[in-house]
Amino acid sequence: MTVRINPSILSADFANMERDLARIDNADFAHVDVMDNHFVPNLTFGLQMVERIKATSPIPLDVHLMIADQDRWALGYAELGAESVTLHVEATIDPVATSAAIRAIGARAGLALKPGTPFAAIEGIAHHFDQILVMTVEPGFGGQKFMSDQMHKVREVADFRAKSGIELWIQVDGGVDALTIEFAAEAGADTFVAGSAVYGTDNPALAIENLRKIAREHSHHEERNE
Ligand code: DX5
Ligand code: ZN
Repeated sequence: MTVRINPSILSADFANMERDLARIDNADFAHVDVMDNHFVPNLTFGLQMVERIKATSPIPLDVHLMIADQDRWALGYAELGAESVTLHVEATIDPVATSAAIRAIGARAGLALKPGTPFAAIEGIAHHFDQILVMTVEPGFGGQKFMSDQMHKVREVADFRAKSGIELWIQVDGGVDALTIEFAAEAGADTFVAGSAVYGTDNPALAIENLRKIAREHSHHEERNE
């Protein structure tokens, strides 16, 4: 089974974004953390900047919205060309309608869970999404410690996927590095966001290859297919 490595440009140099996007051109998606200083205590960028990121990125965009009032803003990111847009269930009124709007213009729709939000809260609507994001840190900042206690949630989503037979990517975000990616892959994740573990090294492209190799080796589904 395919594993995806999505470096988070939150750890890139914001004044050299084009250069830092080129450094991760062997990754699957560039993970773009949109933060508004309301839903999370940090502030990054909005539609105008992400439009320029889209124009200069050699790889597809995986937008992670950490803003208030996501139903109002999410579609704009799909419209500017982001290939994937992930909403936080804690900041949406009608996630199913917003997902449908995102999908209607050809983008993938994701649904994210903060560490305190159980999978049970979204189990009934998960089939309306292409990706479930299990946060492995409190959203807001890069460089935090991976929360291993979220692995039970990754397993729950993986069980749900196996039982329902739907195609669903399972993403983890926060504190993912060459060690913790093993735990996440073993729990059933297939899509891995890594900020500091990629941009904190001298050779981001090599870090991506290394993470991909470890994730493949520890992926359940690959074992099953052998
Ligand atoms: C945190 C962001 C993450 C962050 C991950 O709120 O959603 O995408 O960039 O950074 P690391 O990999 O350094 O934990
Ligand atoms: Zn993120």
